[in-house]
Amino acid sequence: MTDRVKGKCVLITGAAGGLGQAMALRLLEEGATVALTDLDTAAVEALRDRLLADHPGRVFAFTHDVAREEDWVRVVAEATEDMGGLSVLINNAGIGGELRYAEADTLDNWRKVQAVNIESIMLGCKHAMPHLRASAPASIINISSVAGLAAAPGMGAYNATKAAVWMYTKTIALEAAKQDWNVRCNSVHPVFIKTPILDPFIAMAGGDEAKAHERLTRGIPLKRIGEPDDVAWCVVYLASDESKFVTGSEFKIDGGMLAQ
Ligand SMILES: NC(=O)c1ccc[n+]([C@@H]2O[C@H](COP(=O)([O-])OP(=O)(O)OC[C@H]3O[C@@H](n4cnc5c(N)ncnc54)[C@H](O)[C@@H]3O)[C@@H](O)[C@H]2O)c1
Repeated sequence: MTDRVKGKCVLITGAAGGLGQAMALRLLEEGATVALTDLDTAAVEALRDRLLADHPGRVFAFTHDVAREEDWVRVVAEATEDMGGLSVLINNAGIGGELRYAEADTLDNWRKVQAVNIESIMLGCKHAMPHLRASAPASIINISSVAGLAAAPGMGAYNATKAAVWMYTKTIALEAAKQDWNVRCNSVHPVFIKTPILDPFIAMAGGDEAKAHERLTRGIPLKRIGEPDDVAWCVVYLASDESKFVTGSEFKIDGGMLAQ
C-alpha cells in the first residue's frame, strides 16, 4: 500500500464482475475513492458493503445500465457529487454475447453486444468528460480485449466491438490532447482471465473447468490463464499519475499471446 492513487475519484462500470471487483480492491488499497456501478443492483451493493468495512467513506454503489444514456447522465452526476469529483473513468462493463458463426448470428445478438461493449463507451466518454476535465489530471481506461487485436471464429460481434474500443480510445486521447484538457485515454487488452465471462467456454467443455482452462491456455506462452489482479495492477498504473505521459496506447495483458 503506497497511496499510488490517493485522492483519485474513480468510477468503475461492471464493477460487480470478476475484473471490476479486483480493480476496486486494488484502487482502494492504493488510496482511491470508488463509485461502483453495475446492472446487477444486489451484487454491486453487496460488494460496496463488503469493501466499506475496510475502507469507510470511500465506496459508493449505483445501479447502472451502461447501454442507457439516461443512466449515464444520472450516475455520473451522482457519483461525482458523492465522491467530490471524477478523475478516473474505467469503462469495464462488457458481455461476450453468443458464440456464433456469421450465418447463425442474429441481429439481436449483434446489437446487444454493440450496445453494451462499445456504445456504452461513447456514452461514458461523452457524459464523464466535463467532470474529468474539472478534476484533471484525469484518466479514461477502456477495457477492450486481445479479441480487439486478433480475431477468432465465432466471435464476430465481440471481435468487432473490442476492435472499436481500441480505435475509439485513440480518438478520445487525441481530442483531449488537442484541447489541452489533461485527460488521458488508454485501452487494456486482457487474454482469458478467470472470471464468470469464461462460463460459456466451460459449458463448451461439458462443464469441466480444468479442461476448459487447459484448452484456453494452449495459445498462451506463459502457459496459464490470467488472474483478475493481472489486469487490476495495470489499471492502477493507468489511474495514477505514474502514467502521466501515456495516452492513446494499448496495454496487452496476455501472457505473451500476441507476441507470436
Ligand atoms: N475475463 C476475461 O477473460 C476477459 C478477457 C478480455 C476482456 N475482458 C473484458 O473485461 C471486462 C470485464 O469482464 P469480466 O471478466 O469481469 O466479466 P464478468 O462477466 O465477470 O463481469 C461483467 C460485469 O458487467 C456487468 N454488466 C453486464 N451488462 C451490463 C450493462 N448493460 N450495464 C452495466 N453492467 C453490465 C455484469 O453484471 C457483471 O457484473 C469486459 O469488458 C470483458 O469484455 C474480460
